[in-house]
Amino acid sequence: MMLFKRGRLLAFLCSQVIVVALFVHMSGHRHLFQREESRRPVHVLVLSSWRSGSSFVGQLFGQHPDVFYLMEPAWHVWMTFTTSTAWKLHMAVRDLLRSVFLCDMSVFDSYMNPGPRKQSSLFQWEQSRALCSSPVCDFFPADQISSPKRCKPLCSQLPFDVVEKACRSHNHVVLKEVRFLSLQALYPLLTDPSLNLHIVHLVRDPRAVFRSREHTTAELMIDSHIVLGQNLKMIKEEDQPYYAMKIICKSHVDIVKAIQTLPEVLQRHYLLLRYEDLVRAPLAQTSRLYKFVGLDFLPHLQTWVHNVTRGKGMGQHAFHTNARDALNVSQAWRWSLPYTKVSQLQDDCGEAMDLLGYLQVRSQEEQGNLSLDLLSSSPILGQVFQEG
Ligand SMILES: *[C@@H]1O[C@H](CO)[C@@H](O)[C@H](O)[C@H]1NC(C)=O
Ligand SMILES: *[C@@H]1O[C@H](CO)[C@@H](O)[C@H](O)[C@H]1NC(C)=O
Ligand SMILES: *[C@@H]1O[C@H](CO)[C@@H](O)[C@H](O)[C@H]1NC(C)=O
Repeated sequence: MMLFKRGRLLAFLCSQVIVVALFVHMSGHRHLFQREESRRPVHVLVLSSWRSGSSFVGQLFGQHPDVFYLMEPAWHVWMTFTTSTAWKLHMAVRDLLRSVFLCDMSVFDSYMNPGPRKQSSLFQWEQSRALCSSPVCDFFPADQISSPKRCKPLCSQLPFDVVEKACRSHNHVVLKEVRFLSLQALYPLLTDPSLNLHIVHLVRDPRAVFRSREHTTAELMIDSHIVLGQNLKMIKEEDQPYYAMKIICKSHVDIVKAIQTLPEVLQRHYLLLRYEDLVRAPLAQTSRLYKFVGLDFLPHLQTWVHNVTRGKGMGQHAFHTNARDALNVSQAWRWSLPYTKVSQLQDDCGEAMDLLGYLQVRSQEEQGNLSLDLLSSSPILGQVFQEG
């Protein structure tokens, strides 16, 4: 009897020890999970359109030592199907982005020639600091500002698999893409449990975009045809630039509106940025971007942003111009576009302009009067600003 009792006591004690041990074990795990949670990879999509400053915004992220950055990976999809339409290619683009976010670069197999590849097979690879610095390319240290021009001749011969390795060794993966014209295709990525997607939606005054596109018509030809899709043959050539802008403006409206219908927890993964606000306050807006995705605004990056936006150092490469010029360039449509064009564009893009806070001009005089500030705060921006 006594023996039995002692046995039961022993069993009881043993079970307590096991419970305590399990608890310690689990709390250890919980601690581990928490650590993993805070170091959970962050995936950032810079979603924009052509000629809207997205290369510069991409650089703002790509120069950060915690970031693996690629510019326009979906270029490979579009250039493989040049006679297709943006709409038909949405899903292929989405699935490519998902794979790249997860550092699975085999997804490029469908869009590149077979046989051995170099990292230089990747479109605009030299724009990525991660592919231009140690440990990928030992000519340059990882924690310094990277120069595409200096990187290109020295780092291009590395084998393609360094891309995957570089991606895996960074906590933040940032992709910049202009080839998305709706949020619908992206929605599954926002809710995908293996991703932690943050969207930076970059917009610019359509009148400035239009002027810039006029100067790059040849470069944008293939893209424009894919954007116009089936409508291409039905639209007179002189109307095509307006029609393309109409589609682009509508896509911004659709995206902004679609975001507003999402649950609040997903809305917090979206940030709307106007290029003009970035030009006017580069340090403050960069700080806002970094905060949104959980990056520290390191001292050398602050100096760099200050430098490039003041036309010192590498300004020519990143901004293509210095900040005063950028402000000037962002107004250039006001003296270089005739009012008839501006007026037609305002008709095609009116809803987007109202939504994003770009004030319309009603005459040639208003258009030319530079003391009229055409940037307003808009209700939608106020709301999104608070959430960012
Ligand atoms: C910023 O500009 C100064 C002066 O031109 C230069 O010495 C410095 O290296 C630059 N820093 C960065 C991070 O670009
Ligand atoms: C802005 O650019 C125009 C045309 O390129 C030029 O005439 C003008 O002087 C510039 N203004 C400033 C303030 O730089
Ligand atoms: C330009 O706009 C400002 C501000 O509305 C106005 O005071 C000024 O009279 C305008 N100038 C001309 C030449 O119309």
